[in-house]
Amino acid sequence: MDIDADEHPGDSHARLKTEMWVEHGVSRTYVLRQVNIDIAPGEFVSIMGPSGAGKSTLLHILGMHDMAWRGEYWLLDKPIHSLSKKDRMELYKAHFGFVFQSYHLLDNLTVYENLEVPLTYRNIKRQERESIVADVLDRFQIVGKKDLFPNQLSGGQQQLVGVARAIVSNPRIILADEPTGNLHSSQGEEIMELFKKLNAEGTTIVQVTHNEKNASFGNRIIQLRDGWVESQ
Ligand SMILES: Nc1ncnc2c1ncn2[C@@H]1O[C@H](COP(=O)(O)OP(=O)(O)O)[C@@H](O)[C@H]1O
Ligand SMILES: [Mg+2]
Repeated sequence: MDIDADEHPGDSHARLKTEMWVEHGVSRTYVLRQVNIDIAPGEFVSIMGPSGAGKSTLLHILGMHDMAWRGEYWLLDKPIHSLSKKDRMELYKAHFGFVFQSYHLLDNLTVYENLEVPLTYRNIKRQERESIVADVLDRFQIVGKKDLFPNQLSGGQQQLVGVARAIVSNPRIILADEPTGNLHSSQGEEIMELFKKLNAEGTTIVQVTHNEKNASFGNRIIQLRDGWVESQ
């Protein structure tokens, strides 16, 4: 499969039309309804809405983690709805950084090793990996934590490592689920400044946030409620 995004002429990074529901017996509970969104290269989008609105679900669909939905998803001119799992994983590893709401660090790897994982996906040589990880540890002021395991960190520290892992390989698209939810406000602001800088350099960013101030760093808000896109 060709995963070189530079060859795709389309003006859209991600175009998603979907509905998603959960079946129980004869009834369905809709999680997303008639969602129709289009994200252009270089956008910095914030998904907002009350708890339970479907924000995380939408982000996981965009990140190709969740495939239990109906509809169409074109990403970098690839039809995600009909790609094999292997091809989706390849696309993900080549172009995505994802910040999970619940961190999802690998428990049996140290902070250093967690940060190295996305670089191994890109076939970056060991020496270069070392220098990139050292740089990111320094930038996030977590050099002293590099040999610790996730369960030896506070929630906020794990979240910082989660953000660091998402940006370490300089992905084209960053998806972040409440990336500053457990950080002190000054740390949160630093992360938003970092996202803004990466976005200015061309990275497409989609974040879920409850925070108006965080949303103000972006250029557009997708407002969700009860699975419906209220505005975008
Ligand atoms: N796989 C699933 N099975 C059952 N219910 C789900 C599933 N995924 C999401 N939901 C439900 O969908 C709604 C939206 O969830 P979520 O996307 O996590 O909301 P948000 O991130 O906006 O708080 C919630 O009511 C949640 O319980
Ligand atoms: Mg959520």
